[in-house]
Amino acid sequence: MARVAAIIGGGVIGGGWAARFLLNGWDVRVFDPDPEAERKISEVLANARVSMPGLSDTALPAEGALTFHDTIAQTVEGAEWIQESVPERLDMKLKVYAEIQAHCAEDAIIGSSTSGFKPSELQEGATRPGQIAVTHPFNPVYLLPLIELVPTDANSADMIARAKDVISDIGMFPLHVRKEIDAHIADRFLEAVWREALWLVKDGVATTEEIDEAIRMGFGIRWAQMGLFDTYRVAGGEAGMKHFMAQFGPALKWPWTKLMDVPEFNDELVDLIAGQSDEQSGHMTIREMERIRDNNLVSMMRALKAQNFGAGAVMNRHDVKLALDAGMARRAADIADPSKPIVTVSRAVPIDWLDYNGHMTESRYLHAFADASDRLMEIIGCDQDYIATGGSFFTAETHIRHIDETHLGSRIEVRTRVLMAEGKKMHLWHEMYAGDKLLATGEHILIHVSLETRRPAPFSPEIAANLAMISEAQSGLPAPEGAGRYVGQPR
Ligand SMILES: NC(=O)c1ccc[n+]([C@@H]2O[C@H](COP(=O)([O-])OP(=O)(O)OC[C@H]3O[C@@H](n4cnc5c(N)ncnc54)[C@H](O)[C@@H]3O)[C@@H](O)[C@H]2O)c1
Repeated sequence: MARVAAIIGGGVIGGGWAARFLLNGWDVRVFDPDPEAERKISEVLANARVSMPGLSDTALPAEGALTFHDTIAQTVEGAEWIQESVPERLDMKLKVYAEIQAHCAEDAIIGSSTSGFKPSELQEGATRPGQIAVTHPFNPVYLLPLIELVPTDANSADMIARAKDVISDIGMFPLHVRKEIDAHIADRFLEAVWREALWLVKDGVATTEEIDEAIRMGFGIRWAQMGLFDTYRVAGGEAGMKHFMAQFGPALKWPWTKLMDVPEFNDELVDLIAGQSDEQSGHMTIREMERIRDNNLVSMMRALKAQNFGAGAVMNRHDVKLALDAGMARRAADIADPSKPIVTVSRAVPIDWLDYNGHMTESRYLHAFADASDRLMEIIGCDQDYIATGGSFFTAETHIRHIDETHLGSRIEVRTRVLMAEGKKMHLWHEMYAGDKLLATGEHILIHVSLETRRPAPFSPEIAANLAMISEAQSGLPAPEGAGRYVGQPR
């Protein structure tokens, strides 16, 4: 049975949470008194369905069921996680918790999306304060992994551990904030940057567009991968952080920042900023800007996955979990039925796999087949540990036939057969499908090598035994159509 999340308040943030849970296989129940809530959530979901599956190199589970309810009581009944994302008003939030706690399970977790309130403020007067904590997300919730998890002493270690598990389970990164403070950690930075930007525009130093360029052409990219302190550590050169502090510390006393003041918030300032923003980006709709944002975020996080760093490392860990949950074989002993082709890739087509024709580009067919061969290698025992001992496979020959096209977000599966495995040579046959539709075939000859001599070398006994088991079990399958075909050969 699917796990159940209740979403109380389905605006920008609640809609993002709904998408995050649904696309990770949870059933989602929503309560929002706004008659437009269903339409608004379906728009957020449409964006999430296009972008989020491409973050993973493994298929997401089947979507959960989304339902809308008329009362908080119906919504929270039996829910394991309850996410409150109502407007940022303390009196309203406290009223909502009283209603939630009157009807929810005692061990359910109630997370608040609040950007500013401390968890102790949210727990005040609650029936069971230990059930409530801040779980502060970032927009778009379906793509950005950070959750600031802010508990108090009223929350048990067990509750905090369970909250972290759920957050990780839906592909996010729980940052345990050790001491509560207004606006937690990240929004305090954003507030500081925001104040400084308002001054710069008000004083005519820069336009809204110039400020955005100053961020996105430079330090914004740096921050996204390494953050603040590691970036400055590197900037300190070989002498590191101490040198950096000595060099730039005195600047703190210079009249650089206006962080302690706030520019007078009047109509003039609002018109100035809003007018410049219209000039900068008024030619695009918000939905168009969301798509640009989402495509950029997915592409950047995918680049970080290749480095296994920062947000990319979090995504890679989630991929491993998704593959395990989907029951994909990682070892020969895990193969449910070795007489059938083995599923070696199951994933969605991500944004960076498309070309100017709007479909998956040809090099990514090889990418998917190479991933399939890597997975097969792992299954037969040629994993990272084995490779570290000096044995591996090199690809000697590849033949790909492109049979049908596939598009952004399409779910593809590669099924692999071992056609021959003898001595030092392995002959693989991959078929790529979208549902029942054959998209491509890939035929690979791989040679087992010694990484020391870089020359062919016999399989290890374990690899030989696993390959023999699979090729023997699959020997009853009919010869694949097209195997051994050469380029240009008439059909
Ligand atoms: N917008 C952001 O970037 C952002 C980021 C992180 C956290 N947050 C926090 O998330 C929360 C929600 O912000 P938002 O931007 O989604 O606001 P929003 O105005 O887009 O959404 C709030 C939703 O709550 C609904 N609502 C009002 N009263 C309700 C009630 N009694 N019960 C259930 N639903 C009710 C409204 O109809 C609306 O759909 C706030 O606490 C905010 O601080 C916002």
